[in-house]
Amino acid sequence: MRDQFNREIEYARISVTDRCNLRCRYCMPANGVSKLPHGEILSFEEILRVAEILARLGIHKIRLTGGEPLLRKNLPILVRELKSLRGIEIVTLTTNGVLLEKFASDLIAFGIDEINVSLDTLDAREFEKITRRGIFAEVHRGIQFLFDAGFRNVKLNCVPLRGVNEDNLVALAALAKDQNLKVRFIELMPFGCTSRSGFVGMTSAEIISKLENHFGKLIPCDGSKILQGPAKYFSIKNFVGQIGFIDALEHKFCGSCNRIRLTAEGFLKACLCYDTGVDVKKLLRSGASDEELLTVIRETIYRKPLEHSFERSSAARDARQMYQVGG
Ligand code: 5AD
Ligand code: SF4
Repeated sequence: MRDQFNREIEYARISVTDRCNLRCRYCMPANGVSKLPHGEILSFEEILRVAEILARLGIHKIRLTGGEPLLRKNLPILVRELKSLRGIEIVTLTTNGVLLEKFASDLIAFGIDEINVSLDTLDAREFEKITRRGIFAEVHRGIQFLFDAGFRNVKLNCVPLRGVNEDNLVALAALAKDQNLKVRFIELMPFGCTSRSGFVGMTSAEIISKLENHFGKLIPCDGSKILQGPAKYFSIKNFVGQIGFIDALEHKFCGSCNRIRLTAEGFLKACLCYDTGVDVKKLLRSGASDEELLTVIRETIYRKPLEHSFERSSAARDARQMYQVGG
């Protein structure tokens, strides 16, 4: 469906848990993360009911996120069920990769269309510095499993951090030389933990010049919006894969935003930046009919805000953290 600014909204990111087995400094504090009690998290039945209504409103792509979505019991089953809904054409996953080796074959068997792995570095020590967990080997094996299984729709998402993984960006990009995957660099966004982490992001212009010094010219590619989203992609001579950049602060892409978000506790968020939205769980659990849900959800999507205001530190902002929203 179209929102009040005539944007076609066709993509929902659904967070299935706020828990995570890593503690990336820009995302979560080291200790004392308050976890949602199980009863506060939407059940698979509830998620499927909402997804069915979203599909009726013209959403045809769903991405499962977290926290870490593979911590949710039986996640591949949810993928299978979502794939069977009429109108849902694409189901994808964003994971930190720690549990990928264990679940990848089921995910692939049940029809996952794409897997994004968050990976900020290929250096095990840097990985531990960023994530506070020394389990890079697991992630590495998970990614290798996807390659070995011949699964081609893989994106690696890296958040470049000045003076932290800066020297590993070339090595990450080099993965796209021989493998047909997309390596994407995502600008650090200002969430609560981000400023406390002391990490500072890098601009895509800086990264492009780093990569060009090493590999030669980056050549812009065109692509369809639903597959490409906000990323700008480039190819490099002799590379089979591509390099992408997502810089929501540098280049606002709100004008072509096509997405909404459902948090693990069942709040439908119209924009990453604000708490504008509706408590779908409350409606689900107070006996709302499908038609009532549809009306409220349609209204929420219609009133999606025009654009984020992350660049203004004083502006109104949702207090939810990235691990509570799913990116
Ligand atoms: N800025 C940018 N990306 C972030 N992520 C988590 N926190 C931030 C932030 N503050 C990323 C993770 C993962 C994705 C789900 O969101 O690295 O790739
Ligand atoms: Fe977990 Fe992702 Fe947050 Fe890292 S960025 S702590 S992997 S949810």
